[in-house]
Amino acid sequence: CKTVVLISGSGTNLQALIDTAASEGAEFSVCAVISNKSDAYGLIRASDAGIATSVVNHRDFDDRGSFDRALMEEIDRHQPDLVVLAGFMRILTPEFVRHYKGRLLNIHPSLLPKYQGLHTHKRALEAGDDEHGATVHFVTEELDGGPAIVQAVVPIETGDTPERLAERVQVQEHVIYPLAVTWFAQGRLRMMGDQAELDGEIL
Ligand code: GRF
Repeated sequence: CKTVVLISGSGTNLQALIDTAASEGAEFSVCAVISNKSDAYGLIRASDAGIATSVVNHRDFDDRGSFDRALMEEIDRHQPDLVVLAGFMRILTPEFVRHYKGRLLNIHPSLLPKYQGLHTHKRALEAGDDEHGATVHFVTEELDGGPAIVQAVVPIETGDTPERLAERVQVQEHVIYPLAVTWFAQGRLRMMGDQAELDGEIL
């Protein structure tokens, strides 16, 4: 299974995917990494692993539509089976989302449907929650709203700060994202209508 990963930043999730793809019996390969920011550290991680990289800078385009079309063109050069958003900090147009329907994944740092959007760790702490976590989901036109595939639950500890909590959530992200991509590559995971199915069971 050929996977293209989109990033904007440090790329620790990308690294987890690269490491899994390099391990024995891996079911997928990362064939390209595309960033909207030229200084994203994830680009260095990709080059170090011998993976093709490119930058499509949103600032070079007049509007979201033309940026997304350029991004699609760049992605489709690689003819991927799957497109993975790993800390990609741009909102995608319906046109883009429809183009990759059923083969576009994202990871969000909360137990969706709780805390869509930004500052999730801070919001979970402020709400006094006793647990938090991360969700891998199929991307649909609703921001952070597509069907969930797998979640990792992280207990909140007394005295937690958003940073400490984020660190523990990230450790779990690096487990569940490669897992979901592996399921997809094995042909076990699919989006049916508005639901995610694993081995034919609705998740
Ligand atoms: C992760 O926390 C992920 O949940 C969110 O963006 C962050 C990306 O981190 N979507 P990294 O670039 O993978 O380190």
